[in-house]
Amino acid sequence: MDIVITGNYEEMGRSAAGIIAELVRTKPACVLGFATGGTPVGTYRELIRMHREEGLDFSKIKTFNLDEYLGIGMDISKPYEIDQSYARFMHEELFKHINVRKENIHIPDGLTKEPEEFCRWYEEEIKRAGGIDIQLLGIGGDGHWAFNEPGSSLASRTRVQALTKQTLDDNYESFYRKAGIKREDMPHFALTMGIGTILESRHALMIVNGIRKAGIVSEAIEGPLTSKVTASAIQLHPGKVTIILEKPAASKLTWSIGKA
Ligand code: F6R
Repeated sequence: MDIVITGNYEEMGRSAAGIIAELVRTKPACVLGFATGGTPVGTYRELIRMHREEGLDFSKIKTFNLDEYLGIGMDISKPYEIDQSYARFMHEELFKHINVRKENIHIPDGLTKEPEEFCRWYEEEIKRAGGIDIQLLGIGGDGHWAFNEPGSSLASRTRVQALTKQTLDDNYESFYRKAGIKREDMPHFALTMGIGTILESRHALMIVNGIRKAGIVSEAIEGPLTSKVTASAIQLHPGKVTIILEKPAASKLTWSIGKA
């Protein structure tokens, strides 16, 4: 497990993007797992810069996103702040700015009429693509990876997951209230890759910023392996693991350079 501590959010994004870009250069037809949220935006910004200024070519990559709300899908006719789908997030924050092919993009389909069938297909599709080379990951305030809420099996696969009250509260405060959407109209379920699915990626690349994540980062990395903190499964990852932390997020690690 490599842990890299960076000075600020931008540096964290540049480091993560550098690792992804190196793979794209050496293996143009690589398979990338992407995440949504505030954490990876800087990484995506840097990948877009590399595409524009350095000609980084994404034309052969395949992508698989971690999760999507059940019941909503991208609606390009709506303003971005109203369309809360993760598909829209990826479109706005990365995909529309780079030369990834539409048919190579995979995001769980929040509008599927057959969620369980869809989840089985998603797992198969990852296998058919040859598995995920790099899976980019954040961590939720309660230690979740993707929508693997506390209590999710560490062997779980892609599936429908009910959202916890904490996630619903967080999402309401961060997004839906501003968008004028009522709490009861928010999606209460999601489609998510499982922890077992994520652990099959060849390289897990977790990025975390902000002092408010310092406690949960130390629990995930140094605490006991537990389904209460599903990201603690990083300790089980059999392949390559890189964790890039903004300094404040690393401040509660026992060996943190801040305390040395
Ligand atoms: C989203 C995902 C989530 C987020 C986590 C942190 O695809 O996988 O686990 O990484 O909720 O979200 P932010 O980055 O907004 O703090």
